[in-house]
Amino acid sequence: MIIEPVINGVVARTAHPFGCEQSVLRQINYVKHAKSITQGPKRVLIIGGSSGFGLAARVALTFGGSQSDTISVSFERGPSEKGVGTAGYYNNIFFKKYAEEAGRTAINIQGDAFSPQTKEDVIEAIETYFEGEVDLVIYSVAAGIRPDPETGEMLRSAIKPIGQEVTGATITLEDDTWHETTITSATEQEAKDTLKIMGGQDWESWIDTLINVESIAEGCKTIAFSYVGPEVTHPIYLDGTLGRAKIDLHQTSHSLNLKLANFNGGAYATVCKALVTKASVFIPGLSPYLIALYKVMKEQGTHEGCIEQMQRLFSEKLYGVHHVPVDCERLIRMDDWELDPTTQEKVSALVAELNSSNFKQLGDYKGLKQAFMQLNGFGFESVDYTKPVNLDAFAAEIS
Ligand code: NAI
Repeated sequence: MIIEPVINGVVARTAHPFGCEQSVLRQINYVKHAKSITQGPKRVLIIGGSSGFGLAARVALTFGGSQSDTISVSFERGPSEKGVGTAGYYNNIFFKKYAEEAGRTAINIQGDAFSPQTKEDVIEAIETYFEGEVDLVIYSVAAGIRPDPETGEMLRSAIKPIGQEVTGATITLEDDTWHETTITSATEQEAKDTLKIMGGQDWESWIDTLINVESIAEGCKTIAFSYVGPEVTHPIYLDGTLGRAKIDLHQTSHSLNLKLANFNGGAYATVCKALVTKASVFIPGLSPYLIALYKVMKEQGTHEGCIEQMQRLFSEKLYGVHHVPVDCERLIRMDDWELDPTTQEKVSALVAELNSSNFKQLGDYKGLKQAFMQLNGFGFESVDYTKPVNLDAFAAEIS
């Protein structure tokens, strides 16, 4: 079949396998020519490794100097009568292909990170492929739902402010339109559920499980990703439901750090830059900030995507250094360039000017849209999108 892009609101309903291959290849090519990772981990578990920061971390560690072997857990869908499958599904297939060609082990486990069964599958894979131990665990899950570990009831996250209404603009990628929206304050229950999904509980449960089965290697580190952002984004992010969950994640990093100290390792919450990913376009009101940020950082030559962020993290902050550089809250700051005062001054001025009629001209909407399309395998010049794709060839899940 011929696969065309279909977007509903801010959700991509189709993905192109060969465009996803190009996206993986581009990332591989970038890290091969970037500053190399030294003294990197050899056996890496990535929970949420099929797209965004998790996939970029996987590419960086495998091809960017460390020559790591990886096991990745992700929740993706292959082609079926319901649809063509998700981009992460194809990213997994092509990542594995190129990693194996380079002589690396790359295991894909499709499953729900929150389920005990997936943890069992991972432990088995660690036994089989990693001689029973891991050197690094990356927690990069961005999920909207999870079963409550106590009751089994499905919990849903809500991206909302807390204690106030917030009015801001959202850009609908489906038809490139700008909408002023008001988001009401979250209920206490919504805030609690979001914390259970996006806070530190599941990260801690993974590390506890790995400690219990003696799969933590000497010197093992673990990281999870967070966002803080400048003041303009605080009402919807840091002071809202997601921010509360991230603060919980930061606190979890401290308790995990104590546990991993027994192995001479460490745990770090890593604050990343705001970027277009499948998850971030969902955050109401963030798009105007993103198109202003992209515009300013590109002009300054400081713009980074997920892959640039991850290669810099592993080559300059987490490995090959005597001490991992952290701030006063023990956070690794990969948002240092985003929060640079000159950058923020320009971004704030630009955000204040943006409106429904000028956002395409003044902000980098073109860049945001292109990044979004490419996440789903569209918009690559080297792919002939008029050519039919045989989806049956991808139907058998490859692990
Ligand atoms: P993404 O949507 O690109 O990737 C999320 C990953 O989680 C995918 O591999 C997906 O398969 C996996 N996943 C989702 N639900 C799952 C489940 N139930 N079981 C197993 N795997 C599951 O998201 P992105 O943006 O890379 O987010 C990763 C982390 O980075 C999140 O914690 C996010 O808050 C954080 N972050 C994102 C920023 C951004 O601007 N995109 C900025 C700073 C931090």
